[in-house]
Amino acid sequence: MQRDIEEVLVSRETISEMVRTLGKRISEDYEGQELVLIGVLKGGFVFLADLMREITIPVDMDLISVSSYGAQTRSSGVVRIIKDIDITITNKHVLIVEDIVDTGLTLKHLKELLSTRGPASIKVAAAFDKPSRRKVEIEAEYKGIVIPDKFVIGYGLDYAGKYRNLPDLCTLSPKVYSKA
Ligand code: PRP
Repeated sequence: MQRDIEEVLVSRETISEMVRTLGKRISEDYEGQELVLIGVLKGGFVFLADLMREITIPVDMDLISVSSYGAQTRSSGVVRIIKDIDITITNKHVLIVEDIVDTGLTLKHLKELLSTRGPASIKVAAAFDKPSRRKVEIEAEYKGIVIPDKFVIGYGLDYAGKYRNLPDLCTLSPKVYSKA
């Protein structure tokens, strides 16, 4: 697997520091409130697992799986729920936990969808952000690390289902996708 990596873009140490900082901010901001973390599968589960352990207030958590844009191209912007959350979020403070914000389409639609269920608030925590790719105006309130427009793998992010288990955020060697 190591030889498929072109370069380490964000090291595990930098990621870990970012997660600690966000966890501290979230713990302070939501002190005394009912907070529900909703991890977005599949990519978001690694960040969720790390982030929740840096949060020092009681939290509830669940996972949601959405199909990115149906059978259409990414630009269609339609998000369909594949696996819904089991818990009720009415009157609770919701924090959506994502690995990356790219075009912003997934988040925009997910926020709209969850807001129909009457939460007290909905905000977003994202480990990585590619603002240069944005198609809709949306920002994570808890933003980790801004990255350039490169194809990235690791820390939950995949290429053809693989490499999610890399602890660093890396770029993929072009020889891997030129084989595809
Ligand atoms: C990725 C990522 C976000 C979304 C971001 O998921 O986890 O959910 O894309 O892109 P956007 O801002 O352009 O909408 P992906 O569809 O690759 O699914 P996965 O997490 O299961 O790999």
